[in-house]
Amino acid sequence: MSLRLRVILLVALVLFVSMALGAAVVGVKARRVLDAELDAGLIGARQTVASAYEDLPQSDHPARDLRQLVATFDGNRHVQAQLVLPGGKVAFASHTQSLGLPPPGWFAHLLALDPPDIALPVPHTGFGPATLILNPTPALDVRAAWSEFLALIGGLVSMAVIGLVMVYLVIGAAFRPFTVLAQRFGQIGAGDYTGRVEENGPPELRRLQQGFNRMAAQLAASTTRNHLLTEQMVRLQEEERADIARDLHDEIGPHLFAVSLDAEMIARLQEAGDHAAVAERLQDIQSAVRHMQMQVRDLLGRLRPTQVTEFGLKVALEDLLRFWHGRQPGIAFTLSLPAETLPETCAEVAYRIVQESVNNAVRHGRPHNIAILIRLSDGALEVMVKDDGAGTGAASSASGSGLGLVGMRERVQASGGTLTYGPDRDGWTVKACLGLTKGVA
Ligand SMILES: Nc1ncnc2c1ncn2[C@@H]1O[C@H](COP(=O)(O)OP(=O)(O)O)[C@@H](O)[C@H]1O
Ligand SMILES: [Mg+2]
Repeated sequence: MSLRLRVILLVALVLFVSMALGAAVVGVKARRVLDAELDAGLIGARQTVASAYEDLPQSDHPARDLRQLVATFDGNRHVQAQLVLPGGKVAFASHTQSLGLPPPGWFAHLLALDPPDIALPVPHTGFGPATLILNPTPALDVRAAWSEFLALIGGLVSMAVIGLVMVYLVIGAAFRPFTVLAQRFGQIGAGDYTGRVEENGPPELRRLQQGFNRMAAQLAASTTRNHLLTEQMVRLQEEERADIARDLHDEIGPHLFAVSLDAEMIARLQEAGDHAAVAERLQDIQSAVRHMQMQVRDLLGRLRPTQVTEFGLKVALEDLLRFWHGRQPGIAFTLSLPAETLPETCAEVAYRIVQESVNNAVRHGRPHNIAILIRLSDGALEVMVKDDGAGTGAASSASGSGLGLVGMRERVQASGGTLTYGPDRDGWTVKACLGLTKGVA
């Protein structure tokens, strides 16, 4: 059952109950009024009869006077008078008002107006023994009450119907924003974050609408960011592969070639018995192999940064710095680390921050010094990377994606930490505070 229908039914129930209560109160009052009217009618009738009876003994025509007495009750709303002879025969009876359509029996029963007849024996006169019966006739009053009751119920029902129609329309209008919200939530559920709702409801609703719009905007923004990050990741991967291919080609290829040439030469020198030259060639081979080993280690370091988790943050960072030092010998690196072993997730995030910050410093700042300071303070891990480069990115030749810092922030936020970065007096500083999710071992 829809919420709208439920509310309508509840309102209808409340109206019905209050109408029933109202009708009951009106009924009780009407009964009292009718009782009082009937009582007053009967008292008046008794007085009329009593004063006529007083004059009757002096009457020279009692039969006529009695007929007149009965006739005074013609058309009386409350009482019918009958003169009954000893055999039960009715000599005269007053005319009652015609009743029209009688009210339903249950209504008369509810009012329960049924007072007993009043028998008033005629005093001794020439007329002979007879009794005047005063017969209370509440039927007319009950009928009048029934008409009033019908009018009242009719009025109440029509007001209730009008009220319900208005409630129906008002609820429809009041619920419209919820219908729109429900549609928009459906869209969000289906992955479409473009829908927004108008923020025009009453304060409680407006908060909901504002909350929805904020949520949709954030979902849209984070989806876009995710797309960009994925793209960047794929691009970085490709760049890295190209780098590695170039390194293999440029650094390893020539040395392998040199080694194979040296090996051929050794074979020839040995045949010729030139042992001194052989030793020289062997030294060349050894130095080429050493060079290749270093290159391969560098490559492995870049391919498998998971060494953070395997060998610890210190080893991973030293490898990273060795890699950069090999390529940027003009930059002096300083590294300061806490002696304690850090939780894995925390160390991984710290490594990524340093990796991107050093990358940025080299790319955008062209500094002479890069200082990496990692320390534990107040139960958090503080990671700081300072460089003394241009600090504004002005030295940058390539315009980057701007996603490095975004990615860094997301990593830090995901681990419940905070991140600040930007130019300062000396160059550029990145500072992150990471919550230590697991205790320091
Ligand atoms: N160490 C730094 N020195 C100078 N400018 C920096 C430094 N780090 C970041 N920036 C500036 O911030 C911008 C955003 O950096 P980032 O989000 O990593 O994207 P990208 O490196 O791909 O440009 C850079 O383009 C650069 O202008
Ligand atoms: Mg960057």
